[in-house]
Amino acid sequence: MNVLSNLPKYIVMIVLAGGIFIVFGKITGGSDKTSALVVNVPALSATAREGQQLFEANCMACHGKNAAGSEQGPPFINNIYRPNHHADQAFVLAALRGVRSHHWRFGNMPSQPQVNETQMLKIVRYVRELQRANGIN
Ligand code: HEC
Repeated sequence: MNVLSNLPKYIVMIVLAGGIFIVFGKITGGSDKTSALVVNVPALSATAREGQQLFEANCMACHGKNAAGSEQGPPFINNIYRPNHHADQAFVLAALRGVRSHHWRFGNMPSQPQVNETQMLKIVRYVRELQRANGIN
């Protein structure tokens, strides 16, 4: 009798607990765009270190620390960006012309006219050394 009369209360408690669980999951779980990518950072060559500085100033806001990606842009530590699929020239063109969204759902990449070709090739060197250290060849 007691259990039955308390049933509505139990139902309310269960629903509340479920709600809290879902909200908590949203906060801690993050969105599906957040990559939990762990990048192995190798000892970089001098050129790649210059590239790293340029990358951090011009690309990191979207492509993430260590090129691991962010909410704004894709990671380069990804097989899509291996050298024989996105050659060095693809990087130069991306900065020159911007990129129309095609591989991902982050939207378009705006052109980066503040970065010249010489600087871009240093950035590429940095990205390639990171890729190689993470098994992307
Ligand atoms: C405002 C955000 C933003 C910034 C800043 C940015 N990118 Fe991007 N980039 C993107 C997005 C988003 C894409 C993915 C487009 C798609 O869906 O394929 C992308 C794609 C690329 C690609 C792939 C091009 C292709 O042919 O598929 C390259 C290479 C690239 N970015 C290089 C860079 C470099 C190098 C810098 C810094 C000089 C940089 N990006 C700065 C947002 C950004």
